Amino acid sequence: SERTDIDLALFGALGDLSRRKLFPALFHLDREGLLDEDCRILGLARQDISVDEFKAQIEGALKKYVKPDELVEVALTRFMNRLSFLSVDFKTVDGYAGVREWRETADHERPLVVYLAVGASLYGDICRYLQESGSLDEESRVVVEKPIGYDLESSKVINDAIGEVFPESRVYRIDHYLGKETVQNLIALRFANPLFGTQWNQNHISHVEVTVAEKVGIEGRWGYFDEAGQLRDMVQNHLLQLVCLIAMDPPANLDADAIRDEKVKVLKALKPFTDDMIGRDVVRGQYTAGTSDGQSAPGYLEEDDANVSSHTETFVAMKTEVANWRWAGVPFYLRTGKRMPEKLSQIIIHFRQQPHYIFDPDQRALAANKLIIRLQPDEGMRLEVLTKDSGLDKGMRLRRGPLQLDFNSAFPQVRIPDAYERLLLEVMKGQQYLFVRRDEVEHAWKWCDDLIAAWKDRNEPPRRYPAGSWGPVASIAMITQDGRSWYEDY
Ligand code: BG6
Repeated sequence: SERTDIDLALFGALGDLSRRKLFPALFHLDREGLLDEDCRILGLARQDISVDEFKAQIEGALKKYVKPDELVEVALTRFMNRLSFLSVDFKTVDGYAGVREWRETADHERPLVVYLAVGASLYGDICRYLQESGSLDEESRVVVEKPIGYDLESSKVINDAIGEVFPESRVYRIDHYLGKETVQNLIALRFANPLFGTQWNQNHISHVEVTVAEKVGIEGRWGYFDEAGQLRDMVQNHLLQLVCLIAMDPPANLDADAIRDEKVKVLKALKPFTDDMIGRDVVRGQYTAGTSDGQSAPGYLEEDDANVSSHTETFVAMKTEVANWRWAGVPFYLRTGKRMPEKLSQIIIHFRQQPHYIFDPDQRALAANKLIIRLQPDEGMRLEVLTKDSGLDKGMRLRRGPLQLDFNSAFPQVRIPDAYERLLLEVMKGQQYLFVRRDEVEHAWKWCDDLIAAWKDRNEPPRRYPAGSWGPVASIAMITQDGRSWYEDY
């Protein structure tokens, strides 16, 4: 296994992301022997608490978010020994000397990885103060979370401020979807399998569906979410990244920039929305009261802290196109929403029908292959193929059946790591291919900004859908107008 020789400074160490994702991910890396023996972790937060109190809180988080049988005692003790804590007012340079002093106590020099699990409005200040306080070295890296800004303009301001301190080669912009096992498998699937490699274009694929459905509602994040909405929160980053990996041309190699150059080409080729497309091919929704897991669930406007006249969307469905040689004329249907019946993320590649069809005319609609790539839950892939229905009385009737790869049962001994484990490990190794480059963020914003501006001009309220449903009826009409339907074989 590869080892990684760094120290980590984690800003926002008591926040939700740190507790739920980052500390558990670091713990798993440690347990699996992937953290360098001397790797140290400095938590930074505004709260004025002692190191012991900090450690107690992190231990509490690990107990909550790591499975009991994985929380091995020796590993836990070793992990807790790596932790230090510094209470800092992020907005003044004064406290940052503490970071430098902490670094000086290391017994040998090692690069510093700075993880900013705080709001993007703080990124610039933190980077600058780290530099002014002499806490950084020539190899220091910075990791930042989405959302980077609110639109293209604000993302430029933030990226400029980071860029004053860190060159692009040492900036790691996280999109945690890129850390998901099946998302990385898209690269293997497409570029390692000649079978798919040769079919992956408009000659053979009729359309593509991407569904990222969440069961949760707003979960106490109303303030943040209402400013953002589902387009900024999910489409600008996660869904567009999926579109990039589905649509990109083969990179020359697996180098970070080779991959990211190809992704940028996809983003540049996304068809801009015209006014008539927005009326026809885009649906904004907002959930009303309904049910979730059989319990009654409040509507978006009834959640805690809600502004009852909000028009923010919690659901978006759209039909878009990657307007280039490979994909011209192939619709990409995207949809994502909160408070759907289940948590389900999947990509469906619909292949074209045979040019000449010889079977029962009634079965014609059946006769096309589909590749279903399941991101969550139950990571796996399924290729729907047609076979002859068995039974003497069936003649040449067709039946649809799966060729299936379910990762959990195919590789039962392997634990599928959380996205953050993979991503943290790549940062430590200094590998950028799973991180988003500045121009990707900007092209993605540009495309979303145009749509947001058009929505603003139209000033229409979102369409309602009850919590626990698959979104507004209009999102079904959007796809049936093309003679298709959302894939429903969940
Ligand atoms: C985050 C969004 O980036 O992704 C959340 O801000 C969303 O609103 C989450 O719930 C979904 O991630 P996952 O991994 O649970 O699909």
